[in-house]
Amino acid sequence: MKFFIDTANIDEIRDLATTGMLDGVTTNPSLVAQSGRDFIEVLKDICATIDGPVSAEVTALDAEGMIKEGKTLAKLADNIVVKAPLTWDGLRACRALSSEGIKVNVTLCFSANQALLAAKAGAAYISPFVGRLDDIHIDGMELIEEIRAIYDNYPDLETEILVASIRNPNHVKDAAIIGADVVTIPPSVLRQLAGHPLTDKGLAAFMADWEKTGQKITG
Ligand code: E4P
Repeated sequence: MKFFIDTANIDEIRDLATTGMLDGVTTNPSLVAQSGRDFIEVLKDICATIDGPVSAEVTALDAEGMIKEGKTLAKLADNIVVKAPLTWDGLRACRALSSEGIKVNVTLCFSANQALLAAKAGAAYISPFVGRLDDIHIDGMELIEEIRAIYDNYPDLETEILVASIRNPNHVKDAAIIGADVVTIPPSVLRQLAGHPLTDKGLAAFMADWEKTGQKITG
C-alpha cells in the first residue's frame, strides 16, 4: 500500500521524506491556506522534494475553468496530479484532462456511486473521505469496502482507491486490510504509526541491561 502525506507544510514533508515512507503528497485549498504560502511556490517545493504523485486541487467550479487550471498546474512538474471535486463539472474535467494524459485525483467522494462515476471518467485516483463520514456517524470504512468490491468486479477500471480524511492509525490499518491502494495520512498520524508503549518499555530495558555490560560496539 502506498503512503501519501496529506499536508502542504514543506518542513513536515522534508522531515518525513527522510523516513523513506512517502510515496506521494496530497494538498487541498484548506491545507494550502494553513501553510500560509503561495500555492504555486509551495507546489514547486513539494515536487522538488518528492518524486511520487503530488495532488494539486483546482478551484474553478465549472468544467472549462477546471480544465484550464488543471493544465496550468500540470505544467509545473511531471509528478503533478490534478485534483478535481466530485461534481458533474469535475467529472467532465476529469474526462477531458485524463484523455490528454494528465492524471486526475477526484476528491470529496462520499458514496460508492460517486466512485464508480470517477472511475468511468478515467480518474487515476478516487479520494473517499472516511473521517468526515465517521464525523457524521456513517462508517467511512464501509465505503472503502464497497468501492474495493465494485472496482474488483471490473478489472478494466484502473482507478486507485486513495483513502483520505484519515484521522487515526486504525484508519490506516483498516484501509490496508480492505486492500485500498493508497492512504493519505496527516503528519501527526503518520508519526503515531511506529509508536507502541511496549516497544518503548522493551527498548529501555535492553539499554539498561546493555549499560551494565560496560561494552561498546565498535567498527
Ligand atoms: C484529501 O485529499 C484531503 O486533503 C484530506 O484527506 C481531507 O481530510 P480532512 O477531512 O481531515 O480535512
